[in-house]
Amino acid sequence: MNSIAAMPNTANTPDLDAVRAAFPALQTEVHGHQVAYFDNAATAQKPQVVLDRIDQYYRQENANVHRGVHTMSQLATDAYEGARERMASFLGASDSREIIFTRGTTEAINLVASSFGRSFGPGDEIIVSAMEHHSNIVPWQLLCERTGARLQVVPVTEDGELDIEEFPILLNARTRLVALVHVSNSLGTINPVRRIITDAHGLGVPVLLDGAQATPHAPVNVQELDVDFYCLSSHKMFGPTGVGVLYGKAEHLEAMPPWQGGGDMIEEVSFTGTTFNEIPHKFEAGTPNIAGVIGMAAAADYLETLGWSWIKQQEQDLLGYATTQLSGIEGLRIIGTAPKKAAVLSFLVGATHPYDVGSVLDRLGIAVRTGHHCTQPLMKQYGIPGTVRASFAFYNTRPEIDRLAEGLRRAAQMLA
Ligand code: ALA
Repeated sequence: MNSIAAMPNTANTPDLDAVRAAFPALQTEVHGHQVAYFDNAATAQKPQVVLDRIDQYYRQENANVHRGVHTMSQLATDAYEGARERMASFLGASDSREIIFTRGTTEAINLVASSFGRSFGPGDEIIVSAMEHHSNIVPWQLLCERTGARLQVVPVTEDGELDIEEFPILLNARTRLVALVHVSNSLGTINPVRRIITDAHGLGVPVLLDGAQATPHAPVNVQELDVDFYCLSSHKMFGPTGVGVLYGKAEHLEAMPPWQGGGDMIEEVSFTGTTFNEIPHKFEAGTPNIAGVIGMAAAADYLETLGWSWIKQQEQDLLGYATTQLSGIEGLRIIGTAPKKAAVLSFLVGATHPYDVGSVLDRLGIAVRTGHHCTQPLMKQYGIPGTVRASFAFYNTRPEIDRLAEGLRRAAQMLA
């Protein structure tokens, strides 16, 4: 994957049947068919090791963190802080204090907008792109309303790539932040983020990447990217929902004010004033999602044990096969044909509405997402209400894609 670090596959090649057997939800029957789960970009299924780790925490270790001298609290704290170390190594960060646990990518972006963005003022600019998820648009719009800053938007070409020539034109002395999606959730495009970071840093401008759709597919190394902020969601990378990570360079996080107040984020509280804890705790007010954090670290272990080279090879094979199979369907139009794509296929079938196609597929036990995929500005650019989106994970198979192609032929006939 472009701009995502290569990592040798030290594991033996996994057996696909065994991998699939490790995901209980893949056995679910939908309308009498074993589910063909192609909605991985919305949320991925969870392997047994992740479910077991969460279960073990609740059954044997459940206690609050950073708050007790008793043994179970120390066990929970060790597991929670161990997970922070794990996520630091997962992202290639050198310092686990740079890992802030959040509810997910959306909250990570909101944290940066609320805290890092507090010093922005009238005339300051934030660069985003036309392919952003709403979660990387709306927090900046809210910040702009509060501060008088302005959004600048890098356009997207017809095939779904960033119009990269426009980026240096938008970048200027007023730019305070570049906030871009690493991998597009609705098109699959892998953006040339290393080049963007180099250009932005040339003018001293920090860069935030929305990595929600990148981290399930390939290793990310924040030090190699030299990115300032990187956001991910556990549930898209086979971990539990409601938890994620904001990676931030320590120099930024240390200078940023807290964004939420409460327990754990303070050093000392009095009615004459409060002083704040050090990073990362300064940004984690209240009892965190302890089980979620521990489960997320188990998902990171699982992915690295499978091996990134197998994951990438498997997913690129599925993407290539699906692209070929679906391209043979009369009237099917793929939206997003960039040369570098993650395993996401968005499309329209003739004049049919995506919702209707999705409903026919559901009756056949095939799970896809339909609609605007939280990227309304991008859909408007294409002049479409939305797409049907099949997003693949390493546990999908070619026979499942054959079912998808057959289901789409049937949908095209029924809805014609
Ligand atoms: N952002 C998620 C998706 O693309 C929900 O489906």
